[in-house]
Amino acid sequence: MTKEASIFNEIVNNRRSIRIYDDKIPFDESSVDRSLERAILSPNSSNLQLWEFYRVKTKAKKDELAKYCLGQNAAKTANELIVFVARKDKWKQHAEFVLNEAKKTFPAKLGKREKLVIDYYSKIIPTLYFSDPVDLTGSLKQIVSAVGGAFQPIPREVTATDMRIVVHKSVALAAQTFMLSMKAEGYDSCPMEGFDSRRVKKFLELPRAAEINMIVSVGTAKPEGVYGERIRIPKEEVIFEL
Ligand SMILES: Cc1cc2nc3c(=O)[nH]c(=O)nc-3n(C[C@H](O)[C@H](O)[C@H](O)COP(=O)(O)O)c2cc1C
Repeated sequence: MTKEASIFNEIVNNRRSIRIYDDKIPFDESSVDRSLERAILSPNSSNLQLWEFYRVKTKAKKDELAKYCLGQNAAKTANELIVFVARKDKWKQHAEFVLNEAKKTFPAKLGKREKLVIDYYSKIIPTLYFSDPVDLTGSLKQIVSAVGGAFQPIPREVTATDMRIVVHKSVALAAQTFMLSMKAEGYDSCPMEGFDSRRVKKFLELPRAAEINMIVSVGTAKPEGVYGERIRIPKEEVIFEL
């Protein structure tokens, strides 16, 4: 094992979901700056980066958000709460941004790869992400996918709901990068999906289309903040080789 793998192994093994933090231990806020900067380097679908991160730091705001986290212990004693938000609604702006940035790196005479990138962001992404209020477009895309799929491999996840899942996957990867980074910085965390999303969105003044992916609390664990031994399904039951 490399030195890096052994450090990474320690980080992964020592990360536990923490339900009680010790607020007497000083907290270095810059660890969150660095960890969020690392989180935005996470792999994400089509590099559209349809995420936002809201840091809740003041006592009054944390107390209010902890209430919307259903009063969970993991939220109540944290030094900070970070809300991971999925912004599928920003696909158009982000696609334009990413394509314009990519174009800056293109040679004067466009090759096959560059043309594919332009097609991807100006045709395929709009086809996948565009939707109408009742998602008739999604049903149409499903039919096209089913017919086309009879003859060749084709993406099957094409409805508006499917695309919500696509975006949430990427946001969750950012949350994982963030939590592992916080562990590397010497802090603990807990991911939470137990919250009232409507109240959280109102609290953050987010538009209807934004969705809360998860809320991550951070701080230093109290020994009693680890609820029991780690339980995992035996690896033979979840890891398969072909
Ligand atoms: C998406 C997600 C949502 C979670 N929601 C909560 C939650 O609302 N409250 C909580 O105490 N733990 C929550 N957890 C933590 C899990 O219970 C925990 O990760 C699991 O029991 C494994 O324990 P470990 O993280 O210590 O390895 C959540 C974890 C994930 C990934």
